[in-house]
Amino acid sequence: MQDAIAFLKQQIRTVPDWPEPGVQFRDITPLLANPRAFRVLIDQFVHRYFDSRPDVVAGLDARGFIIGSVLAYELNIGFVPIRKKGKLPFTTVQETYELEYGSATVEMHTDAVKPGDRVLLIDDLIATGGTMLAGKRLLERLGATVIEGAVIVDLPELGGSAKIREQGLPVFALVDFQ
Ligand code: PRP
Ligand code: ADE
Repeated sequence: MQDAIAFLKQQIRTVPDWPEPGVQFRDITPLLANPRAFRVLIDQFVHRYFDSRPDVVAGLDARGFIIGSVLAYELNIGFVPIRKKGKLPFTTVQETYELEYGSATVEMHTDAVKPGDRVLLIDDLIATGGTMLAGKRLLERLGATVIEGAVIVDLPELGGSAKIREQGLPVFALVDFQ
């Protein structure tokens, strides 16, 4: 496990001062492009959620779609997207939140989950935690129970994962960057 985590961490590229001065951008595209690393990554999540299998994986736009859809396929459960505003064609619920840089609104289709569904919420990274908490609020407004928030990367110094846990949602992160 520790070897796998160290291997995954090595595949994440840090780009300084992007998209704004002062931001250390943790870029997962090299990890995704490496077939061995991508498989190790998905296997870590499959191992964690295989027995406690959720009913649905909800992925956060856009990088959460890449890992969330593959994980849902492997667990043989459905995938639902939580999208940036203006992309979904059917009736939606919306939540607005602040980012490390800027603000955004996310939305879901009102029929994407059923009341009582146990949902795993997944993204690539937690920074301030605003995105994941907005996803949690959307899912709860639709009557679902969010069992955990899962990410590849946590940036604990930004306080997001602590804030999410304070709101009652357990967080599972494979890699920390201080
Ligand atoms: C990034 C990242 C998370 C979010 C984390 O997405 O993929 O979704 O920011 O930040 P937070 O914890 O401060 O909310 P971004 O909004 O940049 O969109 P993208 O996935 O479309 O690049
Ligand atoms: N999303 C918000 N902050 C980020 C960061 N530092 N690296 C990658 N994605 C991010």
